[in-house]
Amino acid sequence: MNTTLFRTKLEQACAEDSLLDVRFAYDRKLCLGMGGYGVVYQEPQVDDDRFVLQKINPITVRALKKDVSRRILSVDSVKYDRVGKKSYVIFNGQEAYSLGKKELHNLKVAMAESTHLRLLQGVGYFPKMVEQEWFSEGYSDPVASDREFFLLDGKLCLRTIREQVPGVNLFDLLGEWFHPLDIVKVAYDLGRALQCMEGAGIIHRDVKSSNVVYNLRYDEKQNHCPGEGEAYLIDFGGTMRQKKITDLENITYFWDDLTECVDLFSLEKKDIFGTPGYIAPEVLFGSEATSYGDRWSLGCLLYTAIVGDAAFHTNADTRVFTDGRKSELHEKMNETNYFNLDFVEAICSLFSVNPEERNLNLLLFEAEEILFCGKGGKLSDIPNMVPLRILSGLNNVTTLRPMR
Ligand SMILES: Nc1ncnc2c1ncn2[C@@H]1O[C@H](COP(=O)(O)OP(=O)(O)O)[C@@H](O)[C@H]1O
Ligand SMILES: [Mg+2]
Repeated sequence: MNTTLFRTKLEQACAEDSLLDVRFAYDRKLCLGMGGYGVVYQEPQVDDDRFVLQKINPITVRALKKDVSRRILSVDSVKYDRVGKKSYVIFNGQEAYSLGKKELHNLKVAMAESTHLRLLQGVGYFPKMVEQEWFSEGYSDPVASDREFFLLDGKLCLRTIREQVPGVNLFDLLGEWFHPLDIVKVAYDLGRALQCMEGAGIIHRDVKSSNVVYNLRYDEKQNHCPGEGEAYLIDFGGTMRQKKITDLENITYFWDDLTECVDLFSLEKKDIFGTPGYIAPEVLFGSEATSYGDRWSLGCLLYTAIVGDAAFHTNADTRVFTDGRKSELHEKMNETNYFNLDFVEAICSLFSVNPEERNLNLLLFEAEEILFCGKGGKLSDIPNMVPLRILSGLNNVTTLRPMR
């Protein structure tokens, strides 16, 4: 089922059931996005003027339960089990359902998002997961959790709740205007975000401008303060574990006990996940995804922000990457004349064919030099926003379902 149809079914189910709990009232929530895997809704946080977002992912293609009395039903508990090569979910205590390949993939994507955001909870470059309280048929006390399984027409779905980070989707922002110092700040914040993820052994696999939110800063007179915004990396649906994480103490357990299932978060070795034009060459040539691949994608994102065109329009372009092409990318970034050579070279290091030569520390160092030490003074001389830069022929390319 595609996400447009899923959204329609979700909203119809709510409209038809007047007794349905408000947490499922999707027909009355603002829909912010429909990606390849789920639908994002916005709702006000109770007792607060902030917004939280719910992302709802369909998981099973077939119904776990047929002839259910109501179109939306909460599920009391969900466990994951694997016997030999077969994967199962066990729901409501003892009923088992055998997952197909696609269903297991959907479960991985939905679970990775909430589990990995939980692991990074409290780190400033990512949205925080938010717990809400609700009552469920199987429990006499309210349940507090940041995620919940439920059935839509008998099919398993997961909803996860996270804060809405302030700002605007970077893809939309780049199509309008952007100050060079803000590009440096994006480089810095995302470089730090990748560093934090690397420390936690989490690979993102879909770093691109539409998965970044940037909050432009203004002073009290509404003058723009270049380089003072904050970037957030979002969309953790493609995240995977690079290594087994042993430090799980500060994770809270609720509702489902899938958090520790290493099996669910291990790399799907044969799959290529990501967005065409952003995937690192070694991954396209069959190597396992690593954090170095995220560094490559960050290079692609920064190149687009600076030049206004994609570094690689297709995966085929990436496959034929050579040192000559790398010099061209360098030249194009240099031609804009906004950045000092060291910063441009730091970005270019992210385009190294040898993954280990993609130097994140160098990028962070050069970005810091500009932002906090005034290196390459010409940037601060730019009085206003740079003129509109129309991204030539760039589409918001969507994340591919894995290619096998
Ligand atoms: N935590 C968040 N804070 C602010 N905006 C968000 C957040 N999560 C998602 N969005 C917005 O919703 C859009 C879709 O969310 P995303 O997680 O990328 O899902 P998908 O790509 O699967 O549709 C994003 O491009 C972004 O504009
Ligand atoms: Mg996305």
